Amino acid sequence: MAAEVVTSEPKTSKRHVSRGLVSPSKPQRLADISGDVEERLLLPIDEFARVLGGGVVPGSVVLIGGDPGIGKSTLMLQVALEMSASISVLYVSGEESERQIKMRANRLLRDASSSDTTIPSGLYLVTETNLSAIMEHISEVKPRLLIIDSVQTCYLPELDPSAGSVTQVRETASRLRELAKSSGVAVFLIGHVTKEGAIAGPRVLEHIVDTVLYLEGDRFQSYRLLRSVKNRFGATSEVGVFEMGECGMLEVLNPSEAFLAERLVNAPGSAIAVTMEGTRPLLVEIQGLTSPTSFGNPRRTPNGVDFTRLLLIVAVLTRRVGLRLGEQDVFVNVVGGLTIDEPAADLAVAASIASSLRGAPVRADAALIGEVGLSGELRNVGQITHRLQEAAKLGFNTAIVPRRLHKGEPWPKDIEIVEVRSVREALAKALLIDK
Ligand code: TYD
Ligand code: MG
Repeated sequence: MAAEVVTSEPKTSKRHVSRGLVSPSKPQRLADISGDVEERLLLPIDEFARVLGGGVVPGSVVLIGGDPGIGKSTLMLQVALEMSASISVLYVSGEESERQIKMRANRLLRDASSSDTTIPSGLYLVTETNLSAIMEHISEVKPRLLIIDSVQTCYLPELDPSAGSVTQVRETASRLRELAKSSGVAVFLIGHVTKEGAIAGPRVLEHIVDTVLYLEGDRFQSYRLLRSVKNRFGATSEVGVFEMGECGMLEVLNPSEAFLAERLVNAPGSAIAVTMEGTRPLLVEIQGLTSPTSFGNPRRTPNGVDFTRLLLIVAVLTRRVGLRLGEQDVFVNVVGGLTIDEPAADLAVAASIASSLRGAPVRADAALIGEVGLSGELRNVGQITHRLQEAAKLGFNTAIVPRRLHKGEPWPKDIEIVEVRSVREALAKALLIDK
């Protein structure tokens, strides 16, 4: 239950005008409205720009959500530092002191790759949580990029409940959206995902903003994924990959290579899947481990794949392939802290489990693609050509894929394709078993 304050709409014309996104509102012919090509502010961090769809759109509102401590402030300060070289940027923080932020900026600028380590003069910083005061600062500085860290610390004094409540967060965001649409400033809102399932967090804002990005990753691993879940100006589920380093977030330009770097070739229980993250195929290592259950029910423990998906795959392996998993604990891990939510990785998950159980490695040069069906059949997945090209690019010679029912595009030339109908057949081809 959340308290809501009912404010009577002030009868002044000013309020009325600001309700239309661009003041004053008036119907126009769509044909007369300019905006054929979107101009975008250049964002020198490529991985970030790709997630946004090519750059920052003036007048857009972007929400960046993520767990506390994942690196949202760090990433946005980096964006602020980069962008302030060419445009004016206002960074509003309600979480940290000016000194703390200055120290972080110094740390970020220590990055050896950039030669100049001075902070650009276009970058303004203010620590403030009162939205009315923030609005005044904005009209004074007139930034073209505004960063609010975080939206949960902002409050409107005329509304009753405390900062961070649903009402406050929503109202703050709508005011900032009105500002963005009327003045053309690009706004980035940082939002924490709260433990309670994002009650007053980014979720209530998703429909207010133009773009929603989530920064995810394992806090104990260095990779961070910036993923778009909604984007009015580009593709959704586009992913940018970063690595948290000593001097901030570094772009990972070849993520597949990075995710596979620590792989033990020919170790049982490891299989390579090709998943699509937005428009980009990514090769990831799936690790499986089976170990005899010592007590009670056998456990199924996924990390990075869906729990029910794992149950389904284990059931298919038991019933359709005949593996004895009834008295085995099964662990599955996606290396690199990635979370896979598409079924195309099913075959790799199945192979990693079977490989561990049998003690037989999966062919090291093979990528495994396919969705596992309940009858033990292997089902086709989308964008197969894309996936195969990425696998070939990383030096995989073979791909085990579902049999195609009708001929589509020809298979890529530089990788050998093994088409199979069932999981059983795929495992026979993929596992190296000494006869
Ligand atoms: P932060 O950006 O403050 O997280 P958020 O705003 O999402 O809560 O990031 C905090 C973590 O990042 C903290 O554990 C320290 C780490 N970090 C680095 O590893 N390297 C760096 O260069 C910086 C600035 C932070
Ligand atoms: Mg922060």
